[in-house]
Amino acid sequence: SQTDEGLGAETEAEKRSREALEKQRQKEELDKKEADIVFEDMDFERMEEPPNESQNKRMTTAAEKMNGETPDCEKMTLEDSDDVVTPWSVTSSSAAGVDYDKLIVKFGCRKLTEELVERFEKVTGHKPHPMLRRGMFFAHRDLSAILDRKEQGKPFYLYTGRGASSGSLHLGHLVPFIFTKWLQDVFDVPLIIQMTDDEKFLWKDIKIDEAKKMARENIKDIISVGFDPAKTFIFNNLDYMCPPFYENVVKVWKVVNNNQARAIFGFTPEDNLGKAAFPAIEAAPCFASSFPHVFGKRTDLPCLIPCAIDQDPFFRMARDVAPRLKYPKPALIYSTFLPALQGAQTKMNASEPNTCVFLSDTAKQIKNKINKYAFSGGQPTVEEHREKGGNCEVDISYQFLRFFLEDDEKLEEIRQKYTKGEILTGELKAMAVAEVTRVVLLMQERRKTVTDATVEEFTAIRSLAYSY
Ligand code: TYM
Ligand code: TRP
Repeated sequence: SQTDEGLGAETEAEKRSREALEKQRQKEELDKKEADIVFEDMDFERMEEPPNESQNKRMTTAAEKMNGETPDCEKMTLEDSDDVVTPWSVTSSSAAGVDYDKLIVKFGCRKLTEELVERFEKVTGHKPHPMLRRGMFFAHRDLSAILDRKEQGKPFYLYTGRGASSGSLHLGHLVPFIFTKWLQDVFDVPLIIQMTDDEKFLWKDIKIDEAKKMARENIKDIISVGFDPAKTFIFNNLDYMCPPFYENVVKVWKVVNNNQARAIFGFTPEDNLGKAAFPAIEAAPCFASSFPHVFGKRTDLPCLIPCAIDQDPFFRMARDVAPRLKYPKPALIYSTFLPALQGAQTKMNASEPNTCVFLSDTAKQIKNKINKYAFSGGQPTVEEHREKGGNCEVDISYQFLRFFLEDDEKLEEIRQKYTKGEILTGELKAMAVAEVTRVVLLMQERRKTVTDATVEEFTAIRSLAYSY
């Protein structure tokens, strides 16, 4: 976790050189990726010509005929000229952040329309969560099929996860977990949470023990969101990998070839073998037979996966292979990214601590971080601000309020007043500090009650409060 010293230490000059370095690194990464894509195009079987913008469109049109879905493994481009969204990197050239409508087309998922949100309310009898009403959860795959099952009283389960790359969750990770907790209350179904300590071991320069330890600490944060132990199974891959789970992993391996994996995930020939093998391990929990202690002999239960859209490549692959494994396809509900403090060009990223508010931050640290780093959509001087008003689209304090302020009317009032210049940047920041501090302190209060014994309770191999 961060300390005040760490925060205050960076001088303007250091900041500039860090930013320049970061830009350079991003450019190199992009160049490298572009080179890889050309390579993939030539390599990819079934692909007659390199995918370009028109091909992308053509594939989507063909896909629309097939129930709106792009043939999963054939969807190649994860990067746009300006937006990069992969499970390991999110950047946009726009201050307003990733163009999510474009992303829906590119990934071939569906927009979560108002009609579908209305149906959600009708079927569940619950007023949609603010994150659903406000479009923070904005895209899906097969959500209607899950609502059908809810209507018909047919079983399904929830699945989500976390790859612990820091000792503590950050505010962005809270988004899918807060929403998942709400879904668990609304649907009353089992929830499976996967901790990918193996993924972090393969991707980062850390030891197995460190990866496991971070996963364990993160489990405590996740439990603090309020999950019900009678309905929730949490596991870390390095400790759980049991025969039924492993069988599903090898089944997935068998039906996805290297070219496909490279096309979906952008792996390069230099990547270690474990990286290429990993996606099957994130896909396996989509299949109920990976958890016989929870689902018995049932193999026909679909899951609904709440997460941010960066995880889509894994589940595109899972959906593609499911029919060949004679399993139902997983359904998805995707959120946008909580932006980095510095601006919506990137998501909050635990590997870059200054972009984040961590759940372990103190009230003072939260205040300092937001005051010092939160990108402002306000004008340079008070006079100019009063005259021209602020821009909520790019203002990070406002974006935090959109995610975490519960009161719709208050949020709308803030938006109008800031846009008109009636609220100043300092005042807006103070509101964001108050709201973020409220959420973080609430989590810290609950975290105090979470012990090693609580972790054992959630991770024990056991049946949950449902029989099949
Ligand atoms: P990880 O640890 O990168 O992220 C955990 C969850 O948080 C979401 N997320 C965000 N949401 C909003 N704003 C952000 N800035 C932000 N950053 C991350 C992620 O989409 C994810 O839902 N490989 C996965 C672990 C995993 C998993 C899963 C995730 C295994 N199985 C099933 C989701 C569903 C990972 O490293 O997530
Ligand atoms: N009430 C939520 C909780 O107890 C807090 C919360 C976080 C929230 N994000 C939100 C409420 C967005 C409404 C909208 O965890």
